[in-house]
Amino acid sequence: MIACQEHLPGWLSLPQARVLWLVEPEQKRAAKVAAQFGIPRHTPRLEDALADAEVQVVDICAPSGLHARMTRQALQAGKHVLCEKPMALSAAEAFQLVALARQGQRKLMIGHHLRFDPVALALVQALQESDRGQFHAVRAQWLRKRRLPARPGFVRRELSGGGVLLDLGVHMVDLAWWVAGCPQPVAASASLNNRLGRRGDVQGEWGSWDSRTLDVEDFAWGQLRFEGGLLVSFELSWLALQPEEEFQRVQWFGDRWGALWPAGRLFAHRRGRPWEVQLAPTHVEKPHRLVVQRFAQCVLQGEAEPVPPEQIATVTAMIEALYRSARQGNEVPVELPRS
Ligand SMILES: NC(=O)c1ccc[n+]([C@@H]2O[C@H](COP(=O)([O-])OP(=O)(O)OC[C@H]3O[C@@H](n4cnc5c(N)ncnc54)[C@H](O)[C@@H]3O)[C@@H](O)[C@H]2O)c1
Repeated sequence: MIACQEHLPGWLSLPQARVLWLVEPEQKRAAKVAAQFGIPRHTPRLEDALADAEVQVVDICAPSGLHARMTRQALQAGKHVLCEKPMALSAAEAFQLVALARQGQRKLMIGHHLRFDPVALALVQALQESDRGQFHAVRAQWLRKRRLPARPGFVRRELSGGGVLLDLGVHMVDLAWWVAGCPQPVAASASLNNRLGRRGDVQGEWGSWDSRTLDVEDFAWGQLRFEGGLLVSFELSWLALQPEEEFQRVQWFGDRWGALWPAGRLFAHRRGRPWEVQLAPTHVEKPHRLVVQRFAQCVLQGEAEPVPPEQIATVTAMIEALYRSARQGNEVPVELPRS
């Protein structure tokens, strides 16, 4: 889905790039997609593409549970890697990938497209240009009504690595944390369940799933604590009983500013009165396209990745801790490698 809708059109729009291989185990799909996008070769084996010295970049859009292994293979073969989210399932894996990329002087970027969202960029820029003050709380919500992605790469844990916390949670946690200035995470607590997905009579818009074998969460609720006192709470669902088909809202509460996404509003107090700004984003390019364009640019120009993989490895540590907390039923520390 994401390869055909976003990544391949993104690469094909770049005059400096050619797509040389498609790696896809489903042979019929591989042939169809290769023909659709004019890709000269396709194979079910990543190794075939990695052995081609002409290949400089590998763009991974496979199911989430395969990302870390495929990224490692590609970096070890000397390729630059753009990988869809999530980066990995554990902080240890994620930081190893960063180390591998840095040692081999390869670029590594994860497709956190909300870092290229026009409103998010405008919020970050506005806060950078003013006295940001201190944020003390963020509430992040991404709640879908009937949008459980029923493909195997999402509903079978051995392929997906997790459910809605991994799918939507990485975006919400990262956006909340990035706009708040990336403080050091301290502790995590979460509650996960798949009560609706397992009921058997609940149907979604995005295909049907076997409620008896669904082994990932469709609902996630929880909180992260950070150094300096910031609290980030999140609410995530693929199957929420709610009015909206899709509901996204992140709200930051600080001592100088309040902020709202995706509405793009900033709130403050000036001379004793409430004061509000409606941001007018200047970027118009689609965020997913910018992921590919900006990654290509960093490879070609030898620049730093616009989404630093160290930061996304830290997000991975937060998500890993949230899963651990849900299993244990209590708050747990976020464990980061000692630097
Ligand atoms: N950033 C975003 O907005 C966004 C949106 C959608 C999906 N994604 C991510 O992209 C990834 C793919 O999601 P999707 O919705 O396109 O899934 P999808 O199920 O539509 O496509 C995944 C493809 O990977 C193939 N595949 C399975 N095993 C493979 C292997 N070993 N090597 C190569 N290909 C393999 C599958 O056959 C399938 O064609 C997921 O990790 C998801 O989290 C990100």
